[in-house]
Order: sequence, then C-alpha cells, then structure tokens
Amino acid sequence: MHPNRDGWFSDGNVPCDPVPPLSKRPLRMVLMGPPGVGKGTQATRICKSFRTCHLATGDLFRNAQCEGPATPAMKAALAAMQQGRLVPDDVVIEMVRERSGCLKCQGGCLLDGFPRTVRQAEALDQMLDEFGAHLDAVIAFEMAIEAIVARLGGRRTCRSCRAVFHETSNPPATPGICDQCGGNLVRREDDTPEAIRTRMEVYDHESRPLMEYYDAGGRLLRVTADGSPQEVFNRTIGCLSSFLVPSDAQRAPNHVAR
Ligand code: AP5
Repeated sequence: MHPNRDGWFSDGNVPCDPVPPLSKRPLRMVLMGPPGVGKGTQATRICKSFRTCHLATGDLFRNAQCEGPATPAMKAALAAMQQGRLVPDDVVIEMVRERSGCLKCQGGCLLDGFPRTVRQAEALDQMLDEFGAHLDAVIAFEMAIEAIVARLGGRRTCRSCRAVFHETSNPPATPGICDQCGGNLVRREDDTPEAIRTRMEVYDHESRPLMEYYDAGGRLLRVTADGSPQEVFNRTIGCLSSFLVPSDAQRAPNHVAR
C-alpha cells in the first residue's frame, strides 16, 4: 500500500499507517519546476514506484487552511499563497523542521515545492545533516510557459484527498468527482490569471539561484516536462536511473517503462 501522509499533515509526531517499508538506503529527493509544470502529477507516480512519501509544502498550507483557526503566522502564509507570493522563509522552514520526522523516514521522501529559495535549501541541508543524511537528487522540470498555462487552466483538485486531474489530459471518470475518494473536484484558489502570473514571476526570480546552488553540488537533474504524464514519468525515471548509483537504481526494478 502507498504510504500516507499523516505525519506530514500533523506536526510530524503522528506515525504513518502503514509505516513505509524499510529501505536499505532511503532516497531523499526534491522536485522543482514552475507552477503547473506537473510536479504533483509526477510525484504521485515517482512515489508509487520508489515507495517513498510525497511531501508537498503547498498541500501542507492548503490542509492548514481547511483546519481550525489559523495562527497569525499561518494567516499571513495563507494570504501570501492566495496571491501567488511565496510564504516567508522562516514560516516554511519552521513547518518543515517541525516535521523532520518525515525527512528521517525509513522509506525516504520526495519533497515537492520545497525548497524554493537558497535560504530554504541551506536549511534543508542542515536538517538532513543533523541526522547524517543528504539529498540524493533534485529533479527540475522544464517546459515552455504557454504549455504550462494550458495545464493550469484545466486543473481540478480533489478537495478531500488532493488528487490532481485535468479536464482534458487526465479527466475523472465522472465529471467533478474524484476517482480515488469520491470527493468534490475544485479549481484551486491560486489558479486565477493574476495569481498564476505572480507565481511565474516569483519562480523565475527564485529558481535561477536555487538551480545554481544544486548544480554546484552536483545534485541537479534537468528533465523536459513535455509530453503525456506517462512519457514524462518514463523520461524522469530514465534520467534518475543513470544519475543514482547502481544500488539505488536496483531498489525499484519497475522503473524502466515497457
Ligand atoms: P504549490 O502547491 O507547490 O504549487 P506550485 O509550485 O505553484 O505548483 P502546482 O501545484 O500549481 O503545479 P504542479 O507543478 O504540481 O502541477 P500539477 O501536477 O498539479 O505551492 C502553492 C503555493 O504555496 C505557492 O505559490 C506559495 O505561496 C506556497 N508555498 C508552497 N511551498 C512553498 C515554499 N517552499 N516556500 C514558500 N512558499 C511556498 O499539474 C498541473 C495540471 O496539469 C494538472 O491538471 C495535471 O493533471 C496536468 N498535467 C500534469 N502533467 C501533465 C502532462 N504531462 N500532460 C498534460 N497534462 C498534465
């Protein structure tokens, strides 16, 4: 069964059920790329393949929005998110630090949307270093902006389980209803044209130094995100397999697309 994200959505002290299977060497990876390029879509597939947990900071904030009264810091974070701006580094770093149990998980983890700034990347390196771990790979998806805008325009997300669909490229069996849990599919609040524009500008501004940071450390893997979700997945796994040392690649023999 795919590991759940109970610990990630709480304060990191709630154990997942089932506990992810023990891996000889748990992989810790980061997914980066412009808003709407398909990070969440690929994260689901990669995690199923590697049996790691999908930890998305965006989901963390959206989940907090659905929960009870927000703290002042969280209210400010949610307002920033709605407008397409980045949540302040201190808030994001603190939220991830509170959940460092998830980073230590024996099954590994795939971070989606974190880090987004060099300061967050340095904080992550420090957190991993504290328990003798490191990042195995940083996958950066790249695609032309017009194609990304088309993907965002048709996106529908499940209000309950956060599964992601697309009106034309990945429609649900019943319009408006999640295939996985039967929840309602909605358009995300930050998918308005103004917020999308801001998110793209923020990404352009922040991503270059972040990519340089990871490139300099030999951890960056650039992957073109054109094509169907399956084609992008096959390409990603192909790149990852040659990037990771052989003992890592052997962990998941179903990585090679047939
Ligand atoms: P976050 O939730 O991380 O959003 P994002 O980075 O803007 O990315 P998206 O979730 O919009 O897109 P995606 O790349 O996952 O694409 P998807 O798979 O859905 O962050 C939201 C906000 O939270 C930020 O703006 C910020 O305010 C805040 N935040 C979060 N983390 C933060 C941090 N670390 N620091 C500061 N602030 C932070 O795909 C999009 C659509 O395309 C879907 O409909 C999908 O079905 C479709 N699709 C996907 N792949 C394909 C394909 N190959 N072909 C056709 N259609 C496809």
